[in-house]
Amino acid sequence: MRRLTRVAEVRDLVAAERAAGKRVGFVPTMGFLHEGHLRLVDEARRRADVVVMSIFVNPLQFGPTEDLSRYPRDLEGDAGKAEARGVDALFVPEAHAIYPEPPRVVVSPRALAGRWEGAARPGHFEGVLTVVAKLFNIVQPHVAVFGQKDIQQATLVRAMVRDLDMPVEIVVSPTVREADGLAMSSRNSYLDPHERERALALSGALRAAETAHRSGVRSATQLEEIARGHLASAGIEDVDYVAIADPNTLEPLVHAEAGAIVALAARIGRTRLIDNVILGSP
Ligand code: PAJ
Repeated sequence: MRRLTRVAEVRDLVAAERAAGKRVGFVPTMGFLHEGHLRLVDEARRRADVVVMSIFVNPLQFGPTEDLSRYPRDLEGDAGKAEARGVDALFVPEAHAIYPEPPRVVVSPRALAGRWEGAARPGHFEGVLTVVAKLFNIVQPHVAVFGQKDIQQATLVRAMVRDLDMPVEIVVSPTVREADGLAMSSRNSYLDPHERERALALSGALRAAETAHRSGVRSATQLEEIARGHLASAGIEDVDYVAIADPNTLEPLVHAEAGAIVALAARIGRTRLIDNVILGSP
């Protein structure tokens, strides 16, 4: 595995692979890798000849009161996992390589970024889309893989690629969970054992909504109440949102047919976690 820190090195490597007729796959991450990230590598491998992963904790997508400074990092551990999983090139830029100066131009999402995660984290998606656009321009992949875990992010990246005519295929890969249901996340490392136990209520609430949906409940209000009730009974009071939404537009729904999503965000102690499911999926 090649480890690269400079933009020019990435461009040279990708140019050579492209010139040799190879398909380039890309997995952008912020590191502290877990099986969820590595499953995206598997997906990229299936769709490309060369897999590039980036690890960059993007300051632009963190709010002033968020966890940028304490975001977990383990570059050596990550490099070992990435290499073992078959990543060909690991791009690990320093902040100044990506932002030599504060950007004067950014990618600004519209209404979709004002809902759910965007409402709770003003400016977050502008930071995400700006760095993803930059990484796409640096890596120039044929295909890029994102996780369903961050469903609004994936939806906005798809929207950006379509609206700005970026020549890259976007693939969204299912959420990888711990054996007990907790969605894998780098931020799970913040949880103490008691919080880890309570955090199970997030996936539990989603399963409760799925079960109700399977037994015929279609009212979004009712499904939301069921999920919220589950969170409340686990002692989780700090809930940012429980969304019953259209999978393509993420607009709120009144009736949830199969394919609708249930997404939620809640705080366990100081840790903010998100999760979602697609209703009616096996
Ligand atoms: P990060 O949180 O590191 O996630 C990198 C990718 O891994 C994202 O596409 C995310 O959806 C996916 N992912 C995380 N946990 C997952 C899980 N349990 N199952 C499946 N996929 C999972 O998302 C970001 O970084 C950043 O916003 C980034 C896109 C890199 C831009 O800075």
